[in-house]
Amino acid sequence: MAGPFDWIEEQARLRHRAGLVRTLRPRPADSPLLDLAGNDYLGLARHPEVTGAAAEAARHWGAGATGSRLVTGSTALHARLEAELAAFCGFEAALVLSSGYAANLAALTTLAPHGSLIVSDAANHASLIDGCRLARGTTQVIPHGDLDALRKNLDGHPGPALAVSDSVFSVDGDAAPLTALAGACREFGAALLVDDAHGLGVLGPGGRGAPAAAGLAGAGDVVATVTLSKSLGSQGGAVLGPARVIDHLVNTARTFIFDTGLAPAAVGAALGALRLVEREPGRPEAVRTVARDLHARLTGAGLEAVRPDAAVVSVRAPSPGEALQWAADCREKGVSVGCFRPPSVPDGISRLRLTARADLTPAQITEAVRVIVATAPR
Ligand SMILES: Cc1ncc(COP(=O)(O)O)c(C=O)c1O
Repeated sequence: MAGPFDWIEEQARLRHRAGLVRTLRPRPADSPLLDLAGNDYLGLARHPEVTGAAAEAARHWGAGATGSRLVTGSTALHARLEAELAAFCGFEAALVLSSGYAANLAALTTLAPHGSLIVSDAANHASLIDGCRLARGTTQVIPHGDLDALRKNLDGHPGPALAVSDSVFSVDGDAAPLTALAGACREFGAALLVDDAHGLGVLGPGGRGAPAAAGLAGAGDVVATVTLSKSLGSQGGAVLGPARVIDHLVNTARTFIFDTGLAPAAVGAALGALRLVEREPGRPEAVRTVARDLHARLTGAGLEAVRPDAAVVSVRAPSPGEALQWAADCREKGVSVGCFRPPSVPDGISRLRLTARADLTPAQITEAVRVIVATAPR
């Protein structure tokens, strides 16, 4: 008799045949690999001030938050982070959640009620896609960056409408035209939700993010989400926006209400990192320079790469199998790079995904480029 999970092996066989198997590879704390795969854009995850703030928070507040934010899980440290994050990014208020993923689900499920319309860019992050799936409103997916399609969808919609976009797209590293997006939304009275996961700490004045760069931070019709796990080197996420929107989330967002508050260590680390970025505003500029340098050298050597608008540099690979082999060869030669294959890339094009870091030295950049070029598929 067939077992109830036998279909799993069939799926695994298909994955294997398509070169799409994913494996976990635990890394040692002192990995000798040159890291161009992680999202620690500003090199803060292991900064002594940041890890020290995490340890201090754990000692003072405990290892866990002990409950939902609405029960026992809100500490003065959470409130401090929310106030400083909102002020740094230029928004009226902020709400910290346990991940950027949870923040996106919270924003979409609470800001798109029955009868509303969500217009979502085709290249948006999986967590925005899942937020659209969970929201009660109807979602229209538009081609990547297509402002005319956005206008066409918003035109004549009778109920509330929300356009949603990554500020920097996680696969190709290109930036959304936020000013134009907000303009189109305003023509039709729609709100704009921006996922600034890759913009915070990288774009805008002193790393204040893409909404600040576009002059949209603090606007009454703009909401942003961020992760604390990339440039801030910690863990967790947040929604930023008008105080009335944040209050609405506190009362209605299921990924906020029915989820244990973010662990104090992560809150402390994010706060420590945020203060460091404020004190050292050269870090965001440094990571952008490293990204542009990587791109120039790789394309100069004949590889096809998208011009980076922030820290992500995306290099095209001929096929999923070759992308995987390329990443493995880089690794073998001491450089860790990301490898994006379907279904993580909706257009079916596999890529090496490189992430710039503010703390990469010129010698490390030269070595990374040498290895990536030497191992490229012919
Ligand atoms: C664009 C984007 N949004 C949201 C997330 C989710 O953030 P988190 O990892 O904090 O859940 C990520 C990354 O993981 C991301 O790249």
